[in-house]
Amino acid sequence: MNIAIFASGAGSNARRIIEYFKDAETVKIALIVCNKPGAGVLDIAREHNIPALLIEKEQFFRGNAYVDELRSHHIDFIVLAGFLWKVPSALIKAFQEKIINIHPALLPKYGGKGMYGQFVHEAVIGAKDAESGITIHFVDEQYDHGSTIFQATCPVLPDDTAASLAQRIHELEHKHYPAVIEKLLLS
Ligand code: GRF
Repeated sequence: MNIAIFASGAGSNARRIIEYFKDAETVKIALIVCNKPGAGVLDIAREHNIPALLIEKEQFFRGNAYVDELRSHHIDFIVLAGFLWKVPSALIKAFQEKIINIHPALLPKYGGKGMYGQFVHEAVIGAKDAESGITIHFVDEQYDHGSTIFQATCPVLPDDTAASLAQRIHELEHKHYPAVIEKLLLS
């Protein structure tokens, strides 16, 4: 089973997933797809000798969304980990029920366009929610909308800032994302 990880940022989740499956017999992280030259995730790909594909906006949204390139790497499954572009329908159709995402809040709350990174955590703190968490879900044609696979929660503390909450959420993501992927692939 060949997995492509799509990531635009630092890539801490990508790193955890790569390390988790390093010695796996049936699961291989075969490709990193990134839309940002210089993103940390590209260094992680290099470090682990994983091919990286730097994608270009027009081709991603207007063309075949790199479906041929993904097929040429024999990709079976796509994991989004901090990938900030909406997934075009050409890609969703080519990989039906085979694209998942992680969102740093408890969907359906705090989902949708613009709800990423620090903005999510600021919104959670601003609403004085007592807890937040992570949602792992299938990707469909709307932002943060496909069916939920897994959620985990953590408290929001009275003195939390967006940064401190982000750190707690990242820890939850790192703990659960690789294992949820494994379970999904082996079920
Ligand atoms: C994660 O919090 C993820 O939930 C969100 O983007 C962040 C990516 O972080 N979609 P990293 O690049 O994996 O460190």
